[in-house]
Amino acid sequence: MTKDNFKDAHYAVANQCNIKPFFIVIFGATGDLTSRKLIPALFSLYQQKLLSPQCRIIAFARRPYGDESFRDYLFELMREYGIFNDENAQYWPDFAKIISYHQSSFDDPEGYKSLASKLHLSQQNQVCADVLYYLSTQPSQFGTIVENIKAAKLNHPICSAGWNRVIIEKPFGHDLETAKSLNAELTSVFDENQIYRIDHYLGKETVQNLLVLRFANAIFEPLWNNKYVDHIQIKVHESLGVGTRGALYDQQGALKDIVQNHIMHLLSLIAMEPPNSLEADAVRDAKVNLLKCIRKGDVGPDHLIAGQYSESEVNGQKIPAYRDENGVKADSATETYVALKLLIDNWRWEGVPFYIRTGKCMPARLTEVSVYFKSIPRVLYNKADQMANNCLTIQVQPDEGINLRFQVKTPGSPAKIVPADLNFNYSESFGGKSPDAYERLLLDAAAGDATLFTRSDEVLAAWRFIDPLVQGLKLLTAENIAKYPAGSWGPEPARDLIENDGRKWR
Ligand code: BG6
Repeated sequence: MTKDNFKDAHYAVANQCNIKPFFIVIFGATGDLTSRKLIPALFSLYQQKLLSPQCRIIAFARRPYGDESFRDYLFELMREYGIFNDENAQYWPDFAKIISYHQSSFDDPEGYKSLASKLHLSQQNQVCADVLYYLSTQPSQFGTIVENIKAAKLNHPICSAGWNRVIIEKPFGHDLETAKSLNAELTSVFDENQIYRIDHYLGKETVQNLLVLRFANAIFEPLWNNKYVDHIQIKVHESLGVGTRGALYDQQGALKDIVQNHIMHLLSLIAMEPPNSLEADAVRDAKVNLLKCIRKGDVGPDHLIAGQYSESEVNGQKIPAYRDENGVKADSATETYVALKLLIDNWRWEGVPFYIRTGKCMPARLTEVSVYFKSIPRVLYNKADQMANNCLTIQVQPDEGINLRFQVKTPGSPAKIVPADLNFNYSESFGGKSPDAYERLLLDAAAGDATLFTRSDEVLAAWRFIDPLVQGLKLLTAENIAKYPAGSWGPEPARDLIENDGRKWR
């Protein structure tokens, strides 16, 4: 395809998507998220012709760059992160032209006035008028930025037919009270329907497929309740430690960093009632209703276990103890692992335990949801109660897919019954890699589809459940928090949490 052909095709596809050219203003554009996630996602959309060449990316940050030097800085990082390949590298020069740099500190009103002039000028030239603000900064800067956006009258659309939206990154507060204050701060400037709280887990292909699996198939939903389901396990295991994020992580811990957001989304999608429609608010209403039914968390050892990784050697490489990581306090009692059991007090799930685990420095990176069905009557088979239960596992990463475990007879006689697997694998079935979560979420925000974004009441409902657990963990000290060697499956007491109920971690 020649360059001109490519451009024509590009305009045509971007128009088909019904997303008019828009501005994206990235606050904190020199940060890690921009170079690792946002720019690669926008670049990929551009190559797929899903982002119009008339879109404009304005990088708003403090460091002294000009347009060209910022593009060069991004180019070097993209190269370092291995984003370029033989196919896509040719599109970078054209893509880079849509990026410009806007140097300003976040608290300087002049910086917002000059931003406003750029946006207005563009509107006069009829290039584009819709604006997506991306707050990729420390949460402590959110208030300052939105106040300044308001002072420059940039919180409402530049023209009547246009739109202005703001995307914010987690954490959405540190507890219920701070989440309420943050909501108040944001909604004093933007309407709730302009606010897109991003959780990249919702952009993952298999997470979205949870809805399809449940509600586009006739075979699962009739079994999706306490009559047939014994228990559900949700696991988010990471092989890496805290890396360069020690100082930030040390103020959070696994409960706030992963359970409050990513796991609450997985839980609500797997357990919610069918929504009335697939409209954003219908889906989010169903999620909030589920979150409201979670029984207040118990912090006893049969319900909540926290752990912290200790020094170890993994594949010949020495992994420091969490407390020796950069930025982490030497006497930190912050949990890098948590296992918990929760119950949902509604008609569907009464009595079905949900077991949740997440940890850093695990032997493998693995996120999955497993639905364990009840055992069969001990009449024909299973007389000694030894047969594995049927289990449906939705694997979110790294290999996206679905696995159904059931019993078969081995060939010949005497018959032996063994578990077998039915597997569906995304990449084998559809080829290639699933799009990065940020690609999907950026497009949805531009299209005004908030289904995969977190509504304020969803955030508050999740904090209502998490806050008492966090309080419970405050009793832990550097000495008494359970330790697990980096590269192991977590602290010993986590095993008892499930085994004392006569079940096993998957
Ligand atoms: C982030 C957490 O939200 O998710 C990180 O803050 C974590 O601590 C990351 O590493 C995991 O994301 P993913 O997509 O790699 O599972």
